[in-house]
Amino acid sequence: MKLFYFLIAFLALASSITFAYDPSPLQDFCVAINDTKTGVFVNGKFCKDPKLANAEDFFLQGLGPGNTSNPLGSKVSAVSVNEILGLNTLGISLARIDFAPKGLNPPHTHPRGTEILVVVEGTLYVGFVTSNQNNNTLFTKVLNKGDVFVFPIGLIHFQLNVGYTDAVAIAGLSSQNPGVITIANAVFGSKPPISLEVLTKAFQVEENVIDYLQKQFWYNNN
Ligand SMILES: *[C@@H]1O[C@H](CO)[C@@H](O)[C@H](O)[C@H]1NC(C)=O
Ligand SMILES: *[C@@H]1O[C@H](CO)[C@@H](O)[C@H](O)[C@H]1NC(C)=O
Ligand SMILES: *[C@@H]1O[C@H](CO)[C@@H](O)[C@H](O)[C@H]1NC(C)=O
Repeated sequence: MKLFYFLIAFLALASSITFAYDPSPLQDFCVAINDTKTGVFVNGKFCKDPKLANAEDFFLQGLGPGNTSNPLGSKVSAVSVNEILGLNTLGISLARIDFAPKGLNPPHTHPRGTEILVVVEGTLYVGFVTSNQNNNTLFTKVLNKGDVFVFPIGLIHFQLNVGYTDAVAIAGLSSQNPGVITIANAVFGSKPPISLEVLTKAFQVEENVIDYLQKQFWYNNN
C-alpha cells in the first residue's frame, strides 16, 4: 500500500513537471481578449466568454510568403496566440520561415518552446548548440524537402539556406507564445547598450571590436 501511495505521488509530480510550460487547458478552449488596458494581468491572456467564440477565433488566412528582401534574406511569420487568439492555453503554435538563396535565420533561442521544423521547399543547413553542461556541442544537419529536425527548448539554433533556390520551412512550437531572443540583437543591439566593460571581458576583445558590433544595424527578421 505504501508503494502504491509513493507511485501516485511520483506520477503526480512527474505530470506536473511534464506540463511545467504552458498550463493545461481547463476547458475546451479559452479564446484570448486582445486588450490588457483594463490593468489586470494573468499568466497568458484573458478568456472570451465561450458563448461568443466562433470559427474566426481559430483561423488565420493566407500564411506568408514572408518578404526576404532584408539584410538576413529570411523572414519568420509567427502564428502564436497573438495572431490566433483561440490558441490561448493550448500550448502550441507555429511559424513559417521563408529564405532567399543564402538567407539565414540567425542564432536565436525560444525561451518557452521546443521547435520541430519540416522543410517544405529547398535545402537548409541547420544546427543547435547544447548547454555548457553538455560542453556546448554543435549538432547540425543538412535538410532537404520533407526532412524534419528538432531544436530543444532554450537552446541556441539557426537555419541557413544552402540551396540555389528559395527555401520554405514550417516549424511547430510547444508554446502558445514561445518567444524569441536573437543572440546578436540582444547582446549587441540592446537599448541602452550593455557596457563596454561587460562585453570586452565577456568576449575577450578590445573596445573597438565591441564598439563596431554595437554600431551595426541588427535586423529583426521576426
Ligand atoms: C519587400 O521589402 C522590401 C524592402 O523593405 C520592399 O522594398 C519591397 O517592396 C517588399 N516587397 C513586397 C512584395 O512587399
Ligand atoms: C491584437 O492587437 C494587436 C495590437 O493592437 C494587433 O496588431 C493585432 O492584429 C490583434 N490581433 C488580433 C488577432 O486581433
Ligand atoms: C564534457 O567534457 C568533459 C571534459 O572533457 C567530459 O568529461 C564530459 O564527459 C563531457 N560531457 C559531455 C556531455 O560530452
